[in-house]
Amino acid sequence: MPLNHQFLLDNRPEGAATADNFRLVAVDTPALQDGQVLVRHHYLSLDPYMRGRMNDAKSYAACQPLGEVMQGGTVGEVMESRHPGYAAGDKVVGMGGWQEWSVVDAGVPGSLRKVDTSVVPLSYYLGAVGMPGVTAWYGLTQIIDPKPGQTLVVSAATGAVGSAFVALAKARGCRVVGIAGGPEKCAYATDELGFDACIDHRQNGDLKSMAQALKAACPDGIDGHFENVGGYILDAVLLRANAFARVALCGMIAGYDGQPLPLANPALMLINRMRVEGFIVSEHMQLWPQALAELSQLVAAGKLRPRESVAQGLAAAPEAFLGMLKGRNFGKQLVKLI
Ligand SMILES: NC(=O)c1ccc[n+]([C@@H]2O[C@H](COP(=O)([O-])OP(=O)(O)OC[C@H]3O[C@@H](n4cnc5c(N)ncnc54)[C@H](OP(=O)(O)O)[C@@H]3O)[C@@H](O)[C@H]2O)c1
Repeated sequence: MPLNHQFLLDNRPEGAATADNFRLVAVDTPALQDGQVLVRHHYLSLDPYMRGRMNDAKSYAACQPLGEVMQGGTVGEVMESRHPGYAAGDKVVGMGGWQEWSVVDAGVPGSLRKVDTSVVPLSYYLGAVGMPGVTAWYGLTQIIDPKPGQTLVVSAATGAVGSAFVALAKARGCRVVGIAGGPEKCAYATDELGFDACIDHRQNGDLKSMAQALKAACPDGIDGHFENVGGYILDAVLLRANAFARVALCGMIAGYDGQPLPLANPALMLINRMRVEGFIVSEHMQLWPQALAELSQLVAAGKLRPRESVAQGLAAAPEAFLGMLKGRNFGKQLVKLI
């Protein structure tokens, strides 16, 4: 059985996470038991939620245990199988974690899923046609529930979730305005992702400036907002929100290192009679097939072909992860293992 390199969570961050929080080890892969399959990981997904799990704090999910392999989504190939439902050569998506190989109890529900790579590239099952894509679909369809012609805003617009959001929202006839970091990301948002406008938060770094930029980009106000960042961006959206606007609270990455994100004027939610709802996509598994079907169709039709930021080799995972938390990724952040 192959030698397996793994990243463990070695210690918990105080403030910002650092590369020293992780430890690289090499272990022998155990021999397969009945019901197990050996998967060689091709890509490892890096996601903002991993930062939250590094803390030992109250959350919707258990924290990442110390001394264990960093948890995370993976896609790869079955190399050996002792489960009747899988054969060598099958392409699969699972939660293999930050390591090169995994031995999976394939009979456990949700542990592994075979995927078709004839139309959708394997890596997309970690992004556009995976958890981030379903996240965008859920917030859009189940919370924002837009009508054609309405104006929607999304922050972290060019990332894994944001790029799926715009494709899904444009398919519903909405006007979609993104918020992203830097001129290059904003140009990509409008030129390639299909946003009607994009606001650079680095050029509009305070509430007043962001509110003015939103006023210019959303002359009819904001009917729906998909929040990935929090802080003054959410404050500015509340200032420009229309009556009965909906906000899908998906992420608040600006506060993931532990800094508070106070709201300047929460009364606007009342004044505008708004619906503001947080959600966790893994709590709505019954809707995933419907969401994945629509996302696959958009990819097949060439309407969802987002960029990926691909770090090379397992050793690059910690720096790629820390860079993503600071906006250095351009599209879905992956680590390519082979
Ligand atoms: N609720 C759920 O079930 C669920 C599921 C998946 C993801 N999420 C959340 O969805 C959000 C997006 O996830 P993703 O996987 O698509 O990541 P991503 O957008 O590909 O990467 C994170 C992006 O966040 C932006 N960012 C980071 N710090 C920021 C700051 N202080 N101010 C403004 N922007 C900042 C950066 O983009 P810019 O350079 O453009 O600012 C960075 O590229 C995250 O908040 C994540 O936690 C939630």
